Amino acid sequence: MSERKPLIAGNWKLNLGGPEGCELAHAIAKTASANPKVEVVVAPPFTALASVAETVREAGGHVGIAAQNLYPKDSGAFTGEISAPMLIAAGCQWVIIGHSERRQLFGETDDQVREKTAAALAGGLLPIVCVGETLEERERHETLDVVYRQVDAFLPQLEQAPGKVVIAYEPIWAIGTGRVAGPEQAQEVHHAIRSRLGRSPGRVADLTRILYGGSVKGDNASGLLGCVDVDGALVGGASLKADDFSKIIQAANAL
Ligand code: PGA
Repeated sequence: MSERKPLIAGNWKLNLGGPEGCELAHAIAKTASANPKVEVVVAPPFTALASVAETVREAGGHVGIAAQNLYPKDSGAFTGEISAPMLIAAGCQWVIIGHSERRQLFGETDDQVREKTAAALAGGLLPIVCVGETLEERERHETLDVVYRQVDAFLPQLEQAPGKVVIAYEPIWAIGTGRVAGPEQAQEVHHAIRSRLGRSPGRVADLTRILYGGSVKGDNASGLLGCVDVDGALVGGASLKADDFSKIIQAANAL
């Protein structure tokens, strides 16, 4: 898998805001220490970031902390929002941007995704930016049009910081549905994205990690992670239990 270290990120979504999140993080820190070929990240809800970060520190590190969203201004009159400097203060190194739930349920646009990606990088956070098509778009053979449009929106930011921006390809029809893209389907889109990045200057295409997301589980992880252009996984449901998430980390470490 070349110089791109496999990255397994767990997106907890609106779950595990209390002590159970710290218990899970503690167990994941142990798994991460035992599987050093893999970079492991967890994304708790905002209110649990600081306590999970502290738990991970006490357990000896090796697990990155991601927020699930951010606001692209540092401070000001933006009631209810959280900025990059605040996430850094809470112990984050990462932030997930443009998840399909944010795009679909909260109307997040490609322009907002670009602004947030720029703000994350300016603030010292590593962005995991999500792209992916709906079932209708796939059936209309528009998958690559949609994914290219979404990637092109933050391409200037990605080019400015080669290797810092991670792309997560998450076909929306595979998220939380148990309907996973097969390794060939995933590889086809990952390859297309990397080819698109090949038009960028320098080594952007070689350095950019592209994660697959959508119903990744312990029993399908090896097949997906074995694809040449799949550099890891963004995991939702299976990241909420230590055993399930650990199996995915172990599958990546065994490649
Ligand atoms: P899932 O979610 O693994 O539950 O399908 C993935 C995601 O939404 O990032």
